Amino acid sequence: MTDNPKREQWGSKLGFILAAAGSAVGLGNIWKFPYLAGENGGAAFVLVYLVCIVILGLPIMIAEIVIGRHTEKDPVGAFKIIGTGPWSLVGYLGVAAGFFIMTYYSVVGGWTIGYLVKSLSGALCSITSSADSEQLFARFIQSPWEMILYHFLFIGATVGVVIFGVAGGIERFSKIIMPVLFILLIILIIRGLTLPGADAGIRFYLNPDFSKITPKVIIEALGQCFFSLSLGMGAMITYGSYLSRKDKILSSSIKIVGIDSIVAILSGLAIFPAVFAVGMTPEKGPGLTFNILPVVFSRMPYGFVFATLFFLLLFIAALTSAISLVQVVVAYVTDEKGWSRARAVLTAGGLIFLLGIPAALSFGTMKDVKIFFGNTYFDFMDILTSIYMLPIGGLLIAVCLGYKYGLHNTMHELDADTNSFYLKEIWAFTIKYISPVILLAIILYFGVYKMIVP
Ligand code: PHE
Repeated sequence: MTDNPKREQWGSKLGFILAAAGSAVGLGNIWKFPYLAGENGGAAFVLVYLVCIVILGLPIMIAEIVIGRHTEKDPVGAFKIIGTGPWSLVGYLGVAAGFFIMTYYSVVGGWTIGYLVKSLSGALCSITSSADSEQLFARFIQSPWEMILYHFLFIGATVGVVIFGVAGGIERFSKIIMPVLFILLIILIIRGLTLPGADAGIRFYLNPDFSKITPKVIIEALGQCFFSLSLGMGAMITYGSYLSRKDKILSSSIKIVGIDSIVAILSGLAIFPAVFAVGMTPEKGPGLTFNILPVVFSRMPYGFVFATLFFLLLFIAALTSAISLVQVVVAYVTDEKGWSRARAVLTAGGLIFLLGIPAALSFGTMKDVKIFFGNTYFDFMDILTSIYMLPIGGLLIAVCLGYKYGLHNTMHELDADTNSFYLKEIWAFTIKYISPVILLAIILYFGVYKMIVP
């Protein structure tokens, strides 16, 4: 492919890394990772997660960015070039995944706005115990109007940013938020660790009990690896398509994966010591972060200031991830169907809002409405995307690049990277032989065997 002079590009190399890290770092790190670790044996989950990141996450991240820059297309267009024929479906799978994820992601994104409002209004100040906090959260997620309003506001914010375009709209946000979020997490960790009884949380989180590594832990860690790194649906293909030829893909990918993993690990450190110190259970499910952090803030001087700042940053982190989800859908309709950006964004936003309403109500009004093996709509969307669509997307990306298109046709995309560690060769080997085999084994086990033998 030749450089396409008309296509927008990132303002700077840092712009790309920050925006890609902005896509990766989000609710997945601070909301989802801790509660999944809490439900899946703590340290055992963390260990499997980190293994997934190294042998699957990083290689597929590189593959997606390579595909994006090579084709300079949205995922659907990219697969028409590198895959052709039925392979084009992989791109559509990604667009659908982006759309589905957004329907429930914006619900939790709405929680961050709700908690920001609660910190500003002083409602969080009344919390003195974990029971208070649990009650506040339970009442919040059971209120249909609050849920729908905040879900709407979160989508509105996302739509607003995406309408303004790639470099201008997205880049600006990622630059400030990451360092501040990092500092806030460190402050929370120090507070959590100095609470009496925190050491039990450290043991739970960092001292693995290998007998807890079950097939369920493996599949959930794998799904979380794809979700947290924004992989398997073309978000990184889309971002890579705006990357300039001069930029280094390998080293950028290592940085993005590194930042994302560090933020996830730090979030757990901010949460588990406190959970054990106040006697909360780590198996709280999706409410874990929102239940425990207000308690930690209540034990800090100027806690409401920190709480406000934290929920503001969490909101922005969620927003930069949501932008990349919507971006995949929007890039498809603008690139392939010739729609204007505004029309694409507004239509997608409207549909996501409507399809997300049952997810917003899944903890209250619709909590007894079960679909697909006894799951709520919210859980169903989560399982469908993280456990099925993203890993399958990742498998197809690796196979298409490795076998259909041929890695040799894209290796020159890594020319800007120079290093003496044979990283390019290791990557090529992994993408061709290691990642597909492991992914196929796990997907077959869960998708086929587990369905037939309950
Ligand atoms: N990685 C984002 C997060 O951790 C979520 C996301 C998934 C974004 C898939 C884009 C694609 O919050």
